[in-house]
Amino acid sequence: MRIIGTGSALPKKVVENADLERFLDTSDEWIVTRTGIRSRHVISDERLEDLGRDAAQKALADAGLAPGDIDLFICSNVVNEYMTPGLGCIIAAAVGLQCPSMDINCACPGFIYALDIADSYFRAGKVRNVLVVCAEEPTRMTSWQDRATCVLFGDGAGAAVLTEGEGVRSIRISARPDPEKIWQFRPLEPTPFVTKTEVGLPLQMNGREVFRFAVTASIEDIQAVLAKEGLTVGDVDYFLIHQANLRIVEGIRQRLGVPEEKFPCNIQDHGNSSSASCPILLDEYKRKGLFKKGDKLVFSAFGAGLLTAAALVEW
Ligand code: ACO
Repeated sequence: MRIIGTGSALPKKVVENADLERFLDTSDEWIVTRTGIRSRHVISDERLEDLGRDAAQKALADAGLAPGDIDLFICSNVVNEYMTPGLGCIIAAAVGLQCPSMDINCACPGFIYALDIADSYFRAGKVRNVLVVCAEEPTRMTSWQDRATCVLFGDGAGAAVLTEGEGVRSIRISARPDPEKIWQFRPLEPTPFVTKTEVGLPLQMNGREVFRFAVTASIEDIQAVLAKEGLTVGDVDYFLIHQANLRIVEGIRQRLGVPEEKFPCNIQDHGNSSSASCPILLDEYKRKGLFKKGDKLVFSAFGAGLLTAAALVEW
């Protein structure tokens, strides 16, 4: 399969670090030094499905396809306002899709997990065109009294249209199941029968361990997808790394020994938008005209699960 269209959409409200200083014991200096983040887009009066719809429509327009051309829709999302139906069904209705729709909750590597699922459908000959939308609002998961987590996140949606072809050359998805490093608990409705204690908790994260895991796992994944194709790090034109923290991206870049210009970033004014991060990054730099035909792009993402994934794409 190959990528023939991309799109993205961001909430209109921009929150600067200085805005956070007003109600949190934090500073612009701490946030920039530890994360690289200066501002982020956060959901205010929008609904997440509107961002997902906008990103999808832009990607379809970019691909020159109509909603009726799509044979499968995959939506990547961790939380949204609906328990059911899946966010994908809501976006599908807004876009006018008629094809099967499935939702995946694979946290930050969700875009690459979706590519892997789509790849299997193409290889089985079941589809001609697939739409992937990653729509996330992690700012609704954290406590805004917890300075160690809320400063990290931003919201948004990114989309890609895939069709038959040779562009996506190698994908690796993997897991090191460890639900205690990043997790959030949401109690369900009480019933007359439930006797266990259920207390809701905002996002909990062991930042240091996640940091170490992210750098190690990303390098392993990148080397694996390149080795599968007989390539080395030097053959890659651009690395599109999940925008979790500029220091994580820097750690990966330095260990791989790659110059800065091969690592496009947008975390500075986006924060971490979970699975939407990679497709937003792709769309923004594509629209800036960064990628040339034949360029080799490597995606790498890691997050809750712990899940990790990488993909090699020839543009
Ligand atoms: N402002 C000021 N001080 C702060 C802030 C803040 N926003 N946040 C934490 N601190 C303090 C801590 O309280 C601590 O103080 P103490 O020493 O008095 O206890 C001190 O700063 C150092 O805290 P650490 O947590 O050790 O700081 P660290 O350098 O590890 O940076 C961070 C924290 C940014 C979270 C880092 O560990 C990180 O980026 N981890 C990876 C997170 C990530 O990428 N998650 C992605 C997955 S998310 C998902 O999948 C949903």
